[in-house]
Amino acid sequence: MAGGSATPTTDVLEDLVRKALTQVMDPEIRRPVTELGMVRSVDVTLGSSAADGSAGAEGATGTEGARVVVGIDLTVAGCPMKSTLVKDVTAAARTVPGVGEVSVDLGVMSAEQRTELRTMLRGGVGEPEIPFAKPDSLTKVYAIASGKGGVGKSSVTANLAVALAADGLSVGVVDADIYGFSIPRMLGVDRQPTRVDNMLLPPVAHGVKVVSIGMFVPQGQPVIWRGPMLHRALQQFLADVYWGDLDVLLLDLPPGTGDIAISVAQLLPTSEILVVTTPQVAAAEVAERAGSIATQTQQGVVGVVENMSWLEQPDGSRLELFGAGGGARVAENLTAATGGPVELLGQVPLDVSLREAGDAGTPVTLSDPDSPAALALRDVARRLATRSRGLAGRRLGLSPV
Ligand SMILES: Nc1ncnc2c1ncn2[C@@H]1O[C@H](COP(=O)(O)OP(=O)(O)OP(=O)(O)O)[C@@H](O)[C@H]1O
Ligand SMILES: [Mg+2]
Repeated sequence: MAGGSATPTTDVLEDLVRKALTQVMDPEIRRPVTELGMVRSVDVTLGSSAADGSAGAEGATGTEGARVVVGIDLTVAGCPMKSTLVKDVTAAARTVPGVGEVSVDLGVMSAEQRTELRTMLRGGVGEPEIPFAKPDSLTKVYAIASGKGGVGKSSVTANLAVALAADGLSVGVVDADIYGFSIPRMLGVDRQPTRVDNMLLPPVAHGVKVVSIGMFVPQGQPVIWRGPMLHRALQQFLADVYWGDLDVLLLDLPPGTGDIAISVAQLLPTSEILVVTTPQVAAAEVAERAGSIATQTQQGVVGVVENMSWLEQPDGSRLELFGAGGGARVAENLTAATGGPVELLGQVPLDVSLREAGDAGTPVTLSDPDSPAALALRDVARRLATRSRGLAGRRLGLSPV
């Protein structure tokens, strides 16, 4: 027994460093690196800080104390989050009293390790399946739909996603608009998911996990896919992507009542539709059609968001550029059509800052949270968040006939 010495032994330090590493999250998977089998080794050399420089000197501190080399195995060689990981691992190891210089020795998982990781992340199930389609899934799934194009679905999706994440919820977004994907730009995502064999780790933007067909298509190339391919692409998004435990999944749909809307209903029977419309009568009429598809697909309609409701004038008055009443009318008529109460969840004014923020990749609810449009969208997010997570109130997919 060493007894009484003030200097911890290498074993004690190693334990403490390993404990400190439990606080390091993999930036994509968002679980501790220690749980994911990424910590290959922790080597502690007591005594002087004189480094022999053998294992990469990232994080050298130059202070007295034990020298620690942490071996980290990346999921894939070109892991885009490598530098974040090195920084976080170094910082965590340095929090241990008695630790001086810290360096990280990067390696890559073997094929077997990756298979083990995939199986672990999928809860012991080897084959991809859609977690949100399981009867015990607690994730609320909202498909953002409209009749007409250009009414603001993607803007509403991006803003609701980041607002919900800012309120502490775990949020994912699928850009299901294969032909007109715009979510990556609006959320400022410019990289592909990381592929771990056949599992995809989605990029995280403003706390939101994001997957879009835009990430799989070479820039500037048109996508010409037919219904079955769209269906397959959507299925792959949902099953092959590691989403983790989400509170809310938002799907940004293309306009109208096309193949994708039907695929969403089939693949995610518990999803509910959020209808976006402008105040214009013509837009409201087609929005109703998009909403009433829910009666055929047995989906619920969670509510209506009216966008571009008015433009505030310098004197404070409201210029109703596209008329008035569209949102309320859609809500009323969908209440009648679906038999459930369909509420107008909010009215979002026209706002230059919303458009600019979308173009810049930081949605207005984050970049200018007190602007009129952001306030309206944050309010809609809060109303969605306060609907309880869980199975209560869900339709069972039974025909009322
Ligand atoms: N409230 C608003 N104020 C100002 N600009 C807005 C507002 N809502 C949306 N926009 C702008 O209008 C354009 C269309 O919005 P968006 O792309 O969100 O619509 P969409 O319904 O998803 O369109 P599509 O049908 O093409 O997918 C975008 O340039 C967006 O920035
Ligand atoms: Mg869109």
